[in-house]
Amino acid sequence: MNIGIIGIGNMGYALSAALSKKGDDSIIVYDRGKYKIPKSKNISRVNNVLDLVKSSDIIFVAVKPADAEKLFDEISLNVKGKILVSLVALYPYKEISQKIPNAKICKIMTSVAAETRKAPVLAYCPKEVFENLKDILKRIGEPYLFDERVVDALVPIAGSGPALFAYFLDSLSQYMVLAGIEKDLADKIVSFVAYSTSDYILKNNIDLHALIKKVTTPSGITIKILQEFDRRTIKGNIVDSIYSKMESHLKP
Ligand SMILES: NC(=O)c1ccc[n+]([C@@H]2O[C@H](COP(=O)([O-])OP(=O)(O)OC[C@H]3O[C@@H](n4cnc5c(N)ncnc54)[C@H](OP(=O)(O)O)[C@@H]3O)[C@@H](O)[C@H]2O)c1
Repeated sequence: MNIGIIGIGNMGYALSAALSKKGDDSIIVYDRGKYKIPKSKNISRVNNVLDLVKSSDIIFVAVKPADAEKLFDEISLNVKGKILVSLVALYPYKEISQKIPNAKICKIMTSVAAETRKAPVLAYCPKEVFENLKDILKRIGEPYLFDERVVDALVPIAGSGPALFAYFLDSLSQYMVLAGIEKDLADKIVSFVAYSTSDYILKNNIDLHALIKKVTTPSGITIKILQEFDRRTIKGNIVDSIYSKMESHLKP
């Protein structure tokens, strides 16, 4: 299988790294500017978008929304019968299908952390297209099929998630600096806390409240900190902050 990726910025790089790690597929990449690609013998560059489209069975589009409009028009006559996977956040599926009526379209949302091959991949497309793509999406992470409304609503989690986590981890790291730890070391330690916690939750299939209960000794320091978080409505403020920016996408 030939897999094409158009736009090798943050997301295109992550995808090309994930998809080239295993499997016999050839990864073909194109970007209009200068760009770096992961070291892999499976990845080859082409010099124009139509060469990529013509030689790919599946085409991932990883350009910014403002560039997607023109790109979809440019490639629409050359993608007949192929699978086109759009990573363009919040770009309506209907508009892609209207611009590219001859291709099988799938809209996905994932993050730069897809490079680790462990990111959630939220997809909206007809079930048979999803089934055809599933093995490829599994090489990026954990695929889930949802309604488009849900894929859009979860952009702040599945797409922006790494930035939101980095923001929270940076707060913990800042506390460690106050406690006398060098920032680089503090960042590394909080990242290991996050990594081991996620691994623990997933391996034990433990729900988040059960984990909090496990760590929280009555009258201990954890419950005192969590009580202070609640007093400052940290959780409510986080939920409200995300909700307030996504409200227009959450209406049924
Ligand atoms: N960044 C994230 O964490 C994230 C997460 C989830 C989803 N997304 C979605 O992923 C898409 C890409 O985001 P990104 O952060 O990876 O953007 P990016 O870093 O700006 O990468 C996009 C790349 O595509 C190139 N490009 C634009 N139009 C092109 C065209 N017609 N042909 C070939 N190359 C073209 C750009 O070149 P120029 O530099 O010349 O513009 C740039 O190198 C966006 O639609 C975004 O909504 C991003």
